[in-house]
Amino acid sequence: MAPVARFGEQIAPAPAEEQRWDVVGELRRARARTLALLEPLSDEDLRAQWSPLMSPLVWDLAHIGHFEDLWLIRRSGRARTGDARFDEIYDAFAHGREERQELDLLAPADARAFCAEVRERVLESLGRELFADDDPLTRGGFVHRMIVQHEHQHVETMLAALQLRGGPDFPWHERRVPSAGGTSGEVRVPGGRFAMGSDDRSWAYDNERDRHDVELDPYAIDAHPVTNAAFLAFVEDGGYDDPRHWSETGFAHRLEAQLEHPQFWERDAGGWTRIRFGRREPLPLDEPVQHVCWYEADAFARWAGKRLPSEAEWERAAQGSRSTPLSANLGGECFRPAPVGAYPAGVSDLGCHQMIGDVWEWTSSDFAPYPGFVAFPYAEYSEVFFGSGYKVLRGGSWATDPSLARITARNWDHPIRRQIFAGFRCARDV
Ligand code: AVJ
Ligand code: FE
Repeated sequence: MAPVARFGEQIAPAPAEEQRWDVVGELRRARARTLALLEPLSDEDLRAQWSPLMSPLVWDLAHIGHFEDLWLIRRSGRARTGDARFDEIYDAFAHGREERQELDLLAPADARAFCAEVRERVLESLGRELFADDDPLTRGGFVHRMIVQHEHQHVETMLAALQLRGGPDFPWHERRVPSAGGTSGEVRVPGGRFAMGSDDRSWAYDNERDRHDVELDPYAIDAHPVTNAAFLAFVEDGGYDDPRHWSETGFAHRLEAQLEHPQFWERDAGGWTRIRFGRREPLPLDEPVQHVCWYEADAFARWAGKRLPSEAEWERAAQGSRSTPLSANLGGECFRPAPVGAYPAGVSDLGCHQMIGDVWEWTSSDFAPYPGFVAFPYAEYSEVFFGSGYKVLRGGSWATDPSLARITARNWDHPIRRQIFAGFRCARDV
């Protein structure tokens, strides 16, 4: 029987109801973010493809709705929303990104309406449907949270596409980043055993599970991500021209792709600049470097007499990091990383700054399953990418939503990619 409130008394909602409200709030927050990002863009911008590496934004938008329809409507036995052809058009595996502009995509207004209709049906069903406890997919709202994270991941992808769009106009309101607090040096980490990965059953993706012991040798890791100033020193020292700093494949790629500095940097008469969402500005020296590929990060580390950390080393050093709005640059509203040292409240237990937020950090590790890995709930999220030469990135960027900013969360990309908001920090043996 439901408890009766006495005047002035608060009744704690039943756990199931609390979870539902939590999920509704998260779903709404994700959608508000998507729509706010796309709102100022013209239909032409939404349909355009600025790079073969990225989809037209209107594809991401309808794909968000289609994925939600698959997992929150059809999975529970209800009829699909929209056209049966969407299964092919909006399946990420049916067509490469470079082909998507040629598909019979929904027009921007129709894509918005489709997403809204799916969402309405989801919220309608949430009123009735409990998160069935006997199924790990629905228990505690897991599949709803997966949909929340999926939408935010595509918003980050859309931001990377928008960075490739170039200028001239920048129609979004930017939140200011905190000014620098300043930090330097490295942190020494004693060797030993630590528990890596996650047992969480409500937010964690399959590739983060399960928690397992890992043995580490002692090492040192940078207290903050490599800055533009430090990376500039590598550039000006001729680092791009000296094959001794590069792996063989890395240098071959550097020559072929004619890499000479991070993507979006430009040198003009007044000095080094970078282009950020179509605006050129002086290179901010105290910000973490971003838009470098894994090969560039690896070469810098060798030039500095160091190496990239493994993802286990990274995760160990990140333990205790905080990701509240005052302790990490997340959520995409700043449109840039913050200077190193800007979030002293977020430091890890060992004293590492900005492990969470600002820039994804390349690690030395290949994307591979943890012991006992089981694909859940679908193999195409992680499993199909294992062992295909992807490198792991950790920590999230300024564009990552807090719902994904776990120290156990894993991202991955090809070692040649530079369009994501990725930088790195170095480590070394001690
Ligand atoms: C985890 C960022 C590599 O964008 O390919 C989105 C996330 N998976 N839709 C990607 C994802 C399915 C994924 N990454
Ligand atoms: Fe997707």
